Amino acid sequence: MTSTLLTGIGELTTWDAQQPVLTGAALVVESGRVAWTGLAAEAPAADTAVDVGGRAVVPGFVDSHTHLVFAGDRAEEFAARMKGEAYAAGGIRTTVAATRGASDEQLLAHTAALVAELARQGTTTVEIKSGYGLTVHDEARSLAIARQLTEETTFLGAHVVPAEYADDPEAYVALVTGPMLEAAAPYARWIDVFCEDGAFDVDQARTVLAAGAAHGLRGRLHANQLTYGAGVRLACELGLAAVDHCTFLTDADVGALADSGTVATLLPGVEFSTRQPYPDARRLLDAGVRVALASDCNPGSSYTSSMPFCLALAVREMGMTPTEALRAATETGAHALARAGDRAGNTASRGGLGRLTPGSRADLVVLEAPSHLHLAYRPGVPLVRQVWQGGVPI
Ligand code: NIG
Ligand code: FE
Repeated sequence: MTSTLLTGIGELTTWDAQQPVLTGAALVVESGRVAWTGLAAEAPAADTAVDVGGRAVVPGFVDSHTHLVFAGDRAEEFAARMKGEAYAAGGIRTTVAATRGASDEQLLAHTAALVAELARQGTTTVEIKSGYGLTVHDEARSLAIARQLTEETTFLGAHVVPAEYADDPEAYVALVTGPMLEAAAPYARWIDVFCEDGAFDVDQARTVLAAGAAHGLRGRLHANQLTYGAGVRLACELGLAAVDHCTFLTDADVGALADSGTVATLLPGVEFSTRQPYPDARRLLDAGVRVALASDCNPGSSYTSSMPFCLALAVREMGMTPTEALRAATETGAHALARAGDRAGNTASRGGLGRLTPGSRADLVVLEAPSHLHLAYRPGVPLVRQVWQGGVPI
C-alpha cells in the first residue's frame, strides 16, 4: 500500500474538532483516504512526498445541489431580468423542451463537460438532479446520465408540471409517483420536489416524498425560494437531510430548522442571477441551524459552476465569515448529502467527505493563496491550483 506525504502546507483546513485550521502542516494519504494530519515537523515517513510550497490546502468542495443534465441555455432570459423582468419558474419549460430534443450523446457530453468545469474549480463531490425531462423516458435517461458521473443522483420529476399536464396537475403527480418513479429509482439515491407557488404544494410534496421513500429514495426539498410557505417546516417534520433555498423564512421556520437538524442549503448564485433578496445566513447560524452552500448550477436561476463564487457571495451578502462559508461549502455540504461520516472519523466507505481528518476521503484543493480566507477575499480570482480526488491529483 503506497502512501503520499503532502508537505509544505502553509495552512491546512481539516475541520478537526480541536484544531480546525493548522499552520505549517502536512498530510499523509493512503488508499485514497487521509491517514494522518499534523505539523510538518512531526510528519511520518511516506513512500512519496509532494511539497505544496507554503500554499493553503482545504477540503474539496461538496456541491450538494445542481441541475446539470440539460440542453440549451437561457442567456436571453437572464439579460431580460437584468433589465427588470422578474424570475419565473415557468422558464424551466424552455429548458425542458431543449432537453427532450437532445440526443443521449449530446446530453452526456454536456453534463460531463459541466462536471469537469466544476472539478476545475475545486468541487470534488457533486449532486446532480434530473428535472428537465419530465417524461418517464427523459427523467430516467437524465438520471442514467447523471449516474455515470456521480453517486449523488436525485430524481426531480416534480420540478414543474409540464405543459402537456397544465390542465391536470394531479395526473402529473400520479405519473411522477407511479411509472416515472419506477423508471427513475434504479438510478437515483435521492428524491426532491420544487415546493413553491407555481410548482408543487406541500400536500403534493408530501405525496411525492412518501412514494420515493417507499422506493428507498431519501428526501430533500426545494422550498421557500420565491415566497413564504410551509415547505421548510415539512422538510423538518420529515427529518430530511436538507432543504434548499430557504430565502423567505419566518421565525417558526428557523426554529424548526434548528430543532430538526435538517441542513438549510443556501444557494446565493440564485439571488445573484434573479435579483431576489439573499437568504440571511447569519440569522440561521445564530439560531443554531446547520447551513450549507451550493451552486444550484442550472441554466435558469443560477448558471454558475463556481463554489468559490458562491462562498464569496455568502460572505459579502449573507453575513457569513470566510471560515463559516468554507465549512458550509465543504463539511456541511457533506452533511446535506448524508456523507459526512461521524465525528469519530468513521471511515464508512462512502462517508468522510468534506473534511480532512484521518479516515476522510482525500478530496482536497491546493489554493494559490496562503490562507483559506483568500477564497472570499479575492473573489473572481482563479485560486484553485490543484484538485485531488480520492488521494489522486486530477
Ligand atoms: O433551483 N427552483 C427550481 N429549480 C431551479 C431553477 C431551475 C430553472 O430556472 O431552470 C432552482 O432554482
Ligand atoms: Fe435547484
